Amino acid sequence: MTTETTRGHTYDGIAEFDNRLPNWWLWTFYGACIFSVLYWVHYHTIGTGDLPGEAYLLEQKAAAERLEKHMAANPVDEAMLLKLAAEPAFVAEGERIFKEMTQCALCHKPDATGLVGPNLTDDMWIYGGKPMDIYTTILNGRMPDPANGFMGGMPENASKGTQYVLRAAAYVLSDKVRHTNLPGKPPEPNAKKEQ
Ligand code: HEC
Repeated sequence: MTTETTRGHTYDGIAEFDNRLPNWWLWTFYGACIFSVLYWVHYHTIGTGDLPGEAYLLEQKAAAERLEKHMAANPVDEAMLLKLAAEPAFVAEGERIFKEMTQCALCHKPDATGLVGPNLTDDMWIYGGKPMDIYTTILNGRMPDPANGFMGGMPENASKGTQYVLRAAAYVLSDKVRHTNLPGKPPEPNAKKEQ
């Protein structure tokens, strides 16, 4: 396939051979051309394929549906909450949520020692310090109930989705917050001691 003929020009004494491109190379080139036409028709002209962006959204939707089914079949209970609170990656995501200055940290401070809302590191709880109590407080929030001495002001989080609530609850229940007994806001008068 190689020839000794040159293209006829020389630059600084360097000449160029006039070789044919090897067939294997040409076929990869023709193949790429054919592929590009098929790709264009499949994805753009007749739209029978999902482009990466669409495919990603569909996958996300399917994953959310799977999760929803899983949650429906496995309702949140104490065992599940304690398991999640011992899962470092899950707790880390909860920590990120908690410490955002527009989220929990706004009222409980980033270190959870309390500001407007109570100190979450002590063993004094207004609404109970058991895993399901804490989960319910975060999920539904707490409305003021002056007749019974409850101040309220804890916003609901159900509208942010179960995954958000589970993560935040896992962080509060983890050994990074609960029972760490950091000095902070003194316990509310209606708080009771609970381990
Ligand atoms: C707008 C301010 C505010 C935000 C934001 C907020 N909280 Fe609260 N939180 C409060 C207040 C106020 C209370 C006490 C309510 C009461 O005394 O009736 C409270 C109570 C609680 C309690 C119950 C404490 C107890 O002693 O029973 C938990 C747990 C809690 N918050 C966790 C969270 C988490 C987790 C987040 C973030 C997802 C969050 N809070 C966001 C204000 C807030």
